[in-house]
Amino acid sequence: SKEKIALFTIFGGTGDLAQRKLYPSLFKLYQKGYLQDHFAVIGTARRPWTDEHYHEVISDSLADLDADQKDVDQFASHFYYQSHDVTDAQHYMTLKKLSEKLDAQYGLQGNRIFYLAMAPNFFGTIAQHLRSENILTDNGFNRVIIEKPFGHDYASAKELNDHLTATFNEDQIYRIDHYLGKEMIQNITAIRFGNNIWESLWNNRYIDNVQITLSEKLGVEERAVYYDNSGALRDMVQNHILQILSLLTMDQPVEFTEKDIDVEKVKALRSLRPLKPEEVATNFVRGQYGAGDDGVKAYRDEDKISPDSNTDSFVAGKIMIDNYRWSGVPFYVRTGKRLTDKFTRIDVVFKRPVVNIFNHEDVLENDDASTRLDPNILTINVEPTEGFELRMNAKAVGQGFATTPVKLNYSHDAEATAGSPEAYERLLHDALNGDATNFTHWQEVADSWKFVDVIQKYWDEHQPDFPNYRPGTMGPDAADELLHKDGHRWVYRN
Ligand code: BG6
Repeated sequence: SKEKIALFTIFGGTGDLAQRKLYPSLFKLYQKGYLQDHFAVIGTARRPWTDEHYHEVISDSLADLDADQKDVDQFASHFYYQSHDVTDAQHYMTLKKLSEKLDAQYGLQGNRIFYLAMAPNFFGTIAQHLRSENILTDNGFNRVIIEKPFGHDYASAKELNDHLTATFNEDQIYRIDHYLGKEMIQNITAIRFGNNIWESLWNNRYIDNVQITLSEKLGVEERAVYYDNSGALRDMVQNHILQILSLLTMDQPVEFTEKDIDVEKVKALRSLRPLKPEEVATNFVRGQYGAGDDGVKAYRDEDKISPDSNTDSFVAGKIMIDNYRWSGVPFYVRTGKRLTDKFTRIDVVFKRPVVNIFNHEDVLENDDASTRLDPNILTINVEPTEGFELRMNAKAVGQGFATTPVKLNYSHDAEATAGSPEAYERLLHDALNGDATNFTHWQEVADSWKFVDVIQKYWDEHQPDFPNYRPGTMGPDAADELLHKDGHRWVYRN
């Protein structure tokens, strides 16, 4: 049977993430039969909620799913609320008793998943108490799922990791990077290692540059306090963008397994050329949005943001990789809030044909880009469109001979993607299966922070000239300059 058996204990059970992502995802797993009779969920947080109130919250969190109320009630009846102060040993004793009671009641076979969906400064304390108060079982599995941010630099990430590994082994730790749960991010490995035409060209002989764009339309919204202490570099580059980069650049894993993939990702991340402090300003651009014409507030005027904040709401950078495969190929990355639109895409720009036989004279006379053939570009559309696009040069229809760029376009159809699991659902399912392929492993986290720390430190020590971009644009001009000075330009421009 496909049924999974486990007790979930969610720290931060009253929180936004739990309500927006976790409860709906668990419900979908329930609807699909991965969770049936043998599961229970303990939600904990400081607030003194009753089980009845908790059930209402669960039910409300599923409102968008348009589900049968009987199913919803049945599902919600597996949820138990435990008011809990994470620093109080006594409370863990109560939690232990409740866990054991539910284990017996639902036949949970000692399987435990602890989900830490709360302020990271408590992760260490929680892990330590889970051990000292003997909440971990020895007859089933014990796994811990950790939400981001995993530290705010290498040192704090290491400290956090040391606390966790005092209780859990690396193979019991599931660090969430929800981009790894996205359909088209998982597709990167499929298209690379499932197609000879790509993998044979996937190197510096044929690829000119690669562009990764994670664009957001909204501002900081209700997460201002967290965001103002983080910024785009820590919020998106250290984790999502470097994970995507590692999947794009890693060598072929021996087998498609968690261990083999991790080995290759770590090799890729360790090959990133570390920036020297004096190189930061020429290789990375930071931005912060000002006010928009249409009443959009400047970053510094947003609620709970300090009026002299120097936090980056935009970052663009050029990353080089020092190995045989990638030497000389720039990877341009960018992400930010209040950009033109909400989308994620990867553009792989191939080298142009060496000669343009169709326009030979012109090319010899004035070697400017207009007389050269366009490059082939493979675009991986991650969101909201999910698919691939390939630009090629072809003959223009009709008499005479001219070339014209054409596009091959493939998108998953809406019906297929509507039924496909959302990132959190996929990742919870993987964690239930003991499969951490699509989670980040410690060495990956460590190497990513080391790369990012140099940039952040330089920024902290130098005053930016903020605000420097308008809402609804693709960031400051310097982000375009970054490519222009290499003779490149962003494939997606506004
Ligand atoms: C999160 C960041 O990790 O990713 C947010 O903390 C960001 O700031 C979000 O908005 C974007 O995720 P998605 O799935 O909407 O692209």
